[in-house]
Amino acid sequence: KQHEVSIEADVSQQGPTINKDIYGQFAEHLGRGIYEGIWVGKDSDIPNTKGFRNDVLNALRDIKVPLVRWPGGCFADEYHWRDGIGDPSERPVKVNTHWGGVEEDNAVGTHEFFDFVELLGADAYVNGNLGSGTVREMAEWVEYMTSDKNSTLANERRANGRDEPWDIAYFGIGNESWGCGGHMSPEYYVNLYNQFATFIKTPPGKKPKLVGSGGHTEDTEWTDVLSANIERNMDGISYHFYTLPNSDWQNKGHATEFDQSDWFKTMERTYRMDKYLRDNIAKLEQNDPDGDIGLYVDEWGTWYDPEPDREPGFLYQQNTLRDAVLTAVNFNLFHDYADRVHMTNIAQMVNVLQAMILTDGADMLLTPTYHVYGMYKVFQDATAIPYSIASGEYSNGEQTLPAVTTSIARGTDGKVYIALVNLDPAVDAEINLNLSGADFASLSGQILTADAITAKNTFDAKGQVKPTAFTADADNFVLPAKSVVVAELK
Ligand code: AHR
Repeated sequence: KQHEVSIEADVSQQGPTINKDIYGQFAEHLGRGIYEGIWVGKDSDIPNTKGFRNDVLNALRDIKVPLVRWPGGCFADEYHWRDGIGDPSERPVKVNTHWGGVEEDNAVGTHEFFDFVELLGADAYVNGNLGSGTVREMAEWVEYMTSDKNSTLANERRANGRDEPWDIAYFGIGNESWGCGGHMSPEYYVNLYNQFATFIKTPPGKKPKLVGSGGHTEDTEWTDVLSANIERNMDGISYHFYTLPNSDWQNKGHATEFDQSDWFKTMERTYRMDKYLRDNIAKLEQNDPDGDIGLYVDEWGTWYDPEPDREPGFLYQQNTLRDAVLTAVNFNLFHDYADRVHMTNIAQMVNVLQAMILTDGADMLLTPTYHVYGMYKVFQDATAIPYSIASGEYSNGEQTLPAVTTSIARGTDGKVYIALVNLDPAVDAEINLNLSGADFASLSGQILTADAITAKNTFDAKGQVKPTAFTADADNFVLPAKSVVVAELK
């Protein structure tokens, strides 16, 4: 038995651009995400550039990370930027009250963060502190980073080693202001947003995209209230949605030990992203019919129970084929809504939640999720091609999901690419591809799959889940169960 899937598209048609920033990452001062994960310090025996480990930098360059969000998360609303500039040995030591109560010595601050994104070739998404900071503090941080004048703040930046102003691609005004960012109502927050945004001043052409702190999960009120009440420019409203297999914060589910019924629950949970995006976008369509405001999914990914022998506040988790498959499901959805979803950041880049990379001392491994980012990099800034799909049904007897989802786009290199994911862990799919607008004989690319649904990469066996070559006839082929394919149409 196979799922019967048919897909139709006219490749001469053009949909929206798939913004490269959909492939953004998130690096918070949390657990071993920054310290150990990317930063080892300039004096470390681990080979590094300006304190950032070379192995991790090289791996991240390979997947073309376009954007990194920093310093949080919840941490952002407790972060005071002056703690992280100047002589590192004189920076204050704080307590990271959100994440494990550990000491934060501020070794990575503004200059180090910009070193990191410059080494990666990525853009910067800086998240400002609205929850416990002041308008003045936020305005001065932006001036410090972007001013080209002879102001005292710009000269302080120069004295600290950076002559040229930095570019900030996105600047967030608070984070999760409904929760760790201050437990506010959206009405209260939007007034604060208007106030704070008024004083963010940059030289001409240097203005970052400003991000309002929005809602999460099934909530649409934040998107609604913010988009209806902004008085200052807001380029996007953030939105957070985490995939918990059990939908229960006290019993989220195990990262690596699960069966096919857990797999279904996880896919069902992650696929809610479709409805949640649609519902939030409907609010934007009402309040912002010109389409000026983007929906920025600046935190998403899997969140499992902490490993028993680790600090629970560090949010370290392993990552399996299941994470890889649901990553592709989410990418295909982000592409479907690319006219409003301009940016996303998976949580988080290294050693935290659904990470790309796990480190252990000087050692490092690439997770299944990493490989999906690598496969999908051809979609960065590609032009979506509208399609229709009869997707087959993947069911647990009570609920039904599409068995297969897809995305088709013309890459910046002019080639046509297709992505396919078979959500079903047990049943292959027969794909009938009916393309017009050009003639294609074959497709050629990569597949990510494994024998076991729980397959993972470990420090003893790093290559258990990795992409292999995939070629097929362009019109009819089999997409194996629990697999992700990205291929060029030839
Ligand atoms: O990514 C971990 C945390 O999840 C972030 O700090 C916060 O914004 C969210 O609740």
